[in-house]
Amino acid sequence: MKLLLGQTLAFDGNPFVEGPAATRHERRGAVLIEDGLIRETGPAEALRARFPGAEVTDYGDALISAGFIDAHVHYPQTAIIASWGKRLIDWLESYTFPEEARFDAPVYAREIAARFFDLSLAHGTTTSVSFATIHPASVEAFFIEAQRRGLRTLAGKTCMDRNAPENLRDSAQSAYDDSKALLEAWHGRDRLSYVITPRFAPTSSPAQLEALGALRAEHPNCLMQTHLSEQKEEISWVRELFPESRDYLDVYERFGLAGPGALMGHAIHLTARERAAIAERDISLIHCPTSNTFIGSGLFDMQGLAGAGLRVGLATDVGGGSNFSMLRSMGAAYEVAQLAGHALHPAALWYLATAGAARALHLDDKIGNLAPGMEADMVVIDLASTPQIAQRAGRAGDFWEELFPTIMMGDDRAVRAVWVGGELAVPVTSAH
Ligand code: GUN
Ligand code: ZN
Repeated sequence: MKLLLGQTLAFDGNPFVEGPAATRHERRGAVLIEDGLIRETGPAEALRARFPGAEVTDYGDALISAGFIDAHVHYPQTAIIASWGKRLIDWLESYTFPEEARFDAPVYAREIAARFFDLSLAHGTTTSVSFATIHPASVEAFFIEAQRRGLRTLAGKTCMDRNAPENLRDSAQSAYDDSKALLEAWHGRDRLSYVITPRFAPTSSPAQLEALGALRAEHPNCLMQTHLSEQKEEISWVRELFPESRDYLDVYERFGLAGPGALMGHAIHLTARERAAIAERDISLIHCPTSNTFIGSGLFDMQGLAGAGLRVGLATDVGGGSNFSMLRSMGAAYEVAQLAGHALHPAALWYLATAGAARALHLDDKIGNLAPGMEADMVVIDLASTPQIAQRAGRAGDFWEELFPTIMMGDDRAVRAVWVGGELAVPVTSAH
C-alpha cells in the first residue's frame, strides 16, 4: 500500500449546481492506494496511524487531485499545434489535412502517439479522448502507446467520406467496417475504450452517418464523438449540405448519433431548439476554450449549459487548441466566461477538468475523483510553481485564493508528479 500526503481536493457533487460546497478539501490530507485503486482518503494523520505499514510519499503543501481529463483532442495534430493565421475550414485544409495524411505511415503514427502521451502526462493529463485519422493503424498506434503506459484512454478512427482530400477519404462501408473491427479489437481491453468518430457533418455523407448510427445502435455502451456548431461559416455549410435538417444537431439526431454518450465538441452557436434537445437527450458537451479563441470560433455558454446541470467536460482540442495544459484550458474557460459576464469559481473550473469531465464521459465511477474505489490516476500540483504564482498564492486568504493563481498562470511547471493506475508515471524531476 502507498500513502500520498498533501493538500487534497475531491468532489461530492457538482459545483455548477451546488456551489463550492460540493467539494472536499483537506489542508493536510492523504490518499491510500492499493492494487491500482484508491482505497481510502481522509486526514493525513488519521490514515498514517491506521496504515503504519504503507509506503509514504509526502508532497507537503502541494495539491493532490484526480488526474486531468482532456475530453476532446486530436493526437495527430500534435506537431501542428500553434499554426498561424487561419479560421476553421482554411485551418483544416492548410495545416490539418496535410499533417493527417502523413499518418498513412504507421511508424509516424507511433512516433507522434508517443510524443503526444509524453506531453500530456508532463502536463498532468491522465485520460485523453482523442480523434485519430482515417487510417485504422493510427488508432492502433495510439492504443498501443496508451496500453504500454497503463493509461485509461479513449479514441476512434476519424471517418470522412466527402469534402476532404482524396487520400483522406474512406467510404460509408469502409468507415463502418474499419470502426467495427477496431471496436471489437480494442473496446474494453485493459483501460482502453473505442469511440465512434465521424469527424463532423460536413465531411460525412448521409450514408456514412447512417452507417455509423447503425454501429452505435449495435454498441450502445460505446461513446460517440464529433464536432457541433463551432464556427458560423461551418453552420451555414451544414445547412447547405443537409437542407432537410432543422439545424446542425438535427443532422446527428436523424442518424442516431445524438443520444446519451454522444460527446459534442465546441457547441458554441446553439439555437434554443438545440439547447433543449441537448438537455432532453442527455448529450455531453465538451468545451475547448483555447481552441475557440485561437481559431476565432466564439464563446461557449458555460453558465447557461453547465449551470443547467448538463454534462460538460473541458478539453485542449490540440492542435486547434493552443496548449496541452488543462490548467491553461481552465484559465481560458475562466476568461471566456468572463467575456459572457460570469466569473467561474475555481471549484467549477477544476471540476470541468476532473469529475465533471468524467461525468461527461460516463466514467465517473472510475476516474476524475479522489474517492474509495476510483482508479488511482492523480496529478500533484505545486501551487507556487513560478515566482509570479508563488508571490500571489503567498497572499491567499483561503484555499481557493491559493489555487486560482495556478489556474490562471500555471502550466507543466506546476506538475510535480503524475500517478497512473497507482504507479508513479512522471517523477518530480523529469516533469520538465
Ligand atoms: N472540425 C472538424 N475537424 C476539426 C478539427 O480537427 N479541429 C477543430 N477544432 N474543429 C474541427
Ligand atoms: Zn476537435
